[in-house]
Amino acid sequence: MSNFAELKYGDKSYQIPVITGTENESALDISKLRDQTGLITLDVGYKNTGATSSKITFLDGEEGILRYRGYPIEQLAEHSTFLEVAYLLIWGSLPTKEQLENFANRIKKHTLIHEDNRKFFDGFPTTAHPMGMLASVVTSMSSFYPESLDPHRPEEDVELTIIRLLAKVPTLIAWIYKKETGHPYNYPRNDLNYCENFLHMMFSMPTESYHLDPVIVDALDKLLILHADHEQNCSTSTVRIVGSSHANLYASIGAGICALWGPLHGGANQEVLEMLQRIHEDGGNVDKYVLKAKDKNDPFRLMGFGHRVYKNFDPRATIIKKTCDLVLNKLGINDPLLEIAKKLETVALEDPYFIERKLYPNVDFYSGIIYRAIGIPVEMFTVMFALGRLPGWIAQWKELRENKEPIGRPRQVYTGAVKRDYVNITNRK
Ligand code: SDX
Repeated sequence: MSNFAELKYGDKSYQIPVITGTENESALDISKLRDQTGLITLDVGYKNTGATSSKITFLDGEEGILRYRGYPIEQLAEHSTFLEVAYLLIWGSLPTKEQLENFANRIKKHTLIHEDNRKFFDGFPTTAHPMGMLASVVTSMSSFYPESLDPHRPEEDVELTIIRLLAKVPTLIAWIYKKETGHPYNYPRNDLNYCENFLHMMFSMPTESYHLDPVIVDALDKLLILHADHEQNCSTSTVRIVGSSHANLYASIGAGICALWGPLHGGANQEVLEMLQRIHEDGGNVDKYVLKAKDKNDPFRLMGFGHRVYKNFDPRATIIKKTCDLVLNKLGINDPLLEIAKKLETVALEDPYFIERKLYPNVDFYSGIIYRAIGIPVEMFTVMFALGRLPGWIAQWKELRENKEPIGRPRQVYTGAVKRDYVNITNRK
């Protein structure tokens, strides 16, 4: 296969380099296109445009493949832990036993939040959306670590910021939940592992400690692994472009949280549960809602269905669906919304509209059922997605820095008014 493509434009022909990745994906390298031809490309929504080359995550949308640093998601979900996967994504290889222990212990030392930073929660109304609170407080962390603002800080300082974020975000999320419930905050416990500590901070009360059911701890760990990275999705691209201006990591992650909030992206897991609840309350008539989803005049979409990259099944949805059954059976929960979700999937996947458009359940379709079984309220689902995606965002920001990538600044095609002279109708001077 040639490593050049020929572009004929006007009476000239140009050689455009073609680069090929380790999984044989090929791309036109158009970095010199405008200098050579005066042309730019236009690709609204970047559906066909690569923003970077990356060694972190590989997706194959046709084959339903997802690998973190080459390791298949199925193996990591089955055998690894969220902290081990976080280490793998950020530093590029699986840690030794000692490295993982050291990593976990370093995180334990940084789970507390500055008491002045805790006061930020007093300013939010109890009705504030958890994603707005999380984005605000994560970005505000840069005020408590002003040295993090220096883009040329030594690597060990950047590493400390990475540890602080991985350590403190679970505490922040638990305190967001306590802010909403009006219950007292729980402080971290160093005798617990990452997921145990999070569940303790979320659900323990002064009157009794939360009972840590291994089934729930394992289900949460698996969900976080499945959300940990997903190459250049909307929120990761946001983290990268903010990081490309040499903004600090707290600000870049805060921006990523805001992008994930959107209902077409991470906000979909909340929308899915609300959709299933609506169908349940409307008598469980899934055919009616499949019809609505197909109706171009109806804004209703089947939330949790469809994906920009996966044009076959989303491997994460397959794993989460199995985990749903396992967790609900082990907990003896019979959730009517799970039955509705399964019925919806069956009806949609037999419908030509969904088949032609290659719309399958994505990561958000079943995840909310598990969060609900764990006792996490629906308005907290998207911050759970943010917790899972945090190591991926960090890894991608770190890679951009290490590659010394330039500031992101796309071009445009201008379609507005051509030059026209100002007419002074107000006799302004
Ligand atoms: C995530 O990018 C990532 O990797 C994201 C993510 C990650 O891990 O970071 O995987 C997480 O964001 C998953 C997606 C969560 N969002 C939803 O579940 C919201 C519902 N799905 C969509 O709105 C949609 O499918 C997107 C946003 C996910 C993808 O949209 P695209 O690729 O821009 O496709 P499109 O909107 O152009 O849709 C193509 C066609 C259209 O019909 P036509 O105009 O061609 O007739 O499919 C239709 C759409 O109307 N369509 C749907 C649909 N999704 C697409 N119709 C009904 N229900 C849906 N859910």
